Amino acid sequence: MHVPVAIIGAGPSGSLLAWILRQRGIESIVFENRSREYVEGRIRAGVMEQNAVDLMIRAGIGERLQKESMYQRGVEIGINNSHHFLDFEKLIGIGVTVYGQSEVTKDLLGGLANERHNVLYETPVTKIEDHHSDKVKVTYEENGVAKQLTADFVLGADGYHGASRKSVPDGGIVMHEKTYPLGWLGIMVKAPQSKPVAFFTFHDRGFALLSMRTPEIQRLYLQVANDENLNEWSDDRIWDELDTRMGTPGWELIRGEIFQKDLAPLRSFFCESQRYGNMFLVGDAAHVVPPTGAKGLNSAFADVSVLSAGLIQHYTEDDSTILDNFSDLAVARNVQTQRFSGANTAKYHIFPGTNSFDRKMQQAELEYLVTDETAQISYAKQHTGLPFAHWPEL
Ligand code: FAD
Ligand code: DHB
Repeated sequence: MHVPVAIIGAGPSGSLLAWILRQRGIESIVFENRSREYVEGRIRAGVMEQNAVDLMIRAGIGERLQKESMYQRGVEIGINNSHHFLDFEKLIGIGVTVYGQSEVTKDLLGGLANERHNVLYETPVTKIEDHHSDKVKVTYEENGVAKQLTADFVLGADGYHGASRKSVPDGGIVMHEKTYPLGWLGIMVKAPQSKPVAFFTFHDRGFALLSMRTPEIQRLYLQVANDENLNEWSDDRIWDELDTRMGTPGWELIRGEIFQKDLAPLRSFFCESQRYGNMFLVGDAAHVVPPTGAKGLNSAFADVSVLSAGLIQHYTEDDSTILDNFSDLAVARNVQTQRFSGANTAKYHIFPGTNSFDRKMQQAELEYLVTDETAQISYAKQHTGLPFAHWPEL
């Protein structure tokens, strides 16, 4: 069998690519290692940039997002227990939107299922070969049986651990990586909102973040070691630590039932090229950022916007200009996002081996940010997201 486009992975990147291409009649097949329930239930990102929201709406899959998401005009910053509001809306005219990644994937995978799109769940891709030919060969495992097809293009949207990037021979793509001795202990909580916006806190004991998914479900994080043992964190210990790092007189963090605990080690990683022959890499397959500032899903959507624009131009106008520029455009944006996410992580986290001088400088930098409007405008532009280089014609 030969298909125009084979998409590896049905996370946010792969499912949005399949959805957009489908809107323009470009045929694709999607391979997903896991079940649909698993992908839809995966608790990860929660904050979308306005461009990511606009892409879903333009693609005709943003109806529930528009009804149920929570627009936020800025963020709060805690500096050793004093609280400061940064009003992005007032500074630059845009805020950010809370809508869980699980809701994004439910909308996209539900939309694809309604249109009977060919999404093969529990079907891992095991090999990709002949990247430089116009019949890129994809080997996959369906019900334990190895099968093959060929495609004009393979879109690697299979996350950091996926098969697409691993299929590139050594040296085929230059990569850069940094691991951190830090992790985020995350909890999902049934409780009303303690603040109307996300709350990023710098504290001598470490970073903490109050975010949310809905008015009734809150998402909180604590900086811990990357090899932390979750069993050592009882609910009471988590709440007490959050109170220590976030608390201030006259404000109380509202507690509730913790219904999930997870640990995410922090990582920075990116590829210098997001193309190898006729295979394109998008989202976490090509770049991973530490989560401070919520850039992972948004960077994935920026990639998807340019790549889908390029594929639509290629198939409908027989013009490959955007496609040929995809990698350069994507990498240029993603390097800036790496810089922002790394710097934002360094701003708030207490790194092992640093001393009281380093902490005082971190505090001074945040104090400068919350008092200087020029610094706030620069921060707001980066937090709310860089422009997308191309938009698909829909
Ligand atoms: P993935 O979501 O990893 O999807 C890849 C898919 O490919 C998976 O479904 C996987 O099962 C499948 N797959 C893997 N291998 C194969 C194979 N061999 N064959 C077939 N399928 C395969 N980002 C934000 O923008 N905002 C946030 O607020 C935010 N918060 C975060 C909080 C945490 C704690 C974490 C961990 C991440 C957060 N992120 C955030 C990052 C965001 O979740 C990711 O960047 C996003 O999931 C990337 O989407 P993706 O589709 O590229 O990759
Ligand atoms: C989440 C929110 C953020 O503002 C952030 O920087 C990282 C993660 C979240 O809600 O998961």
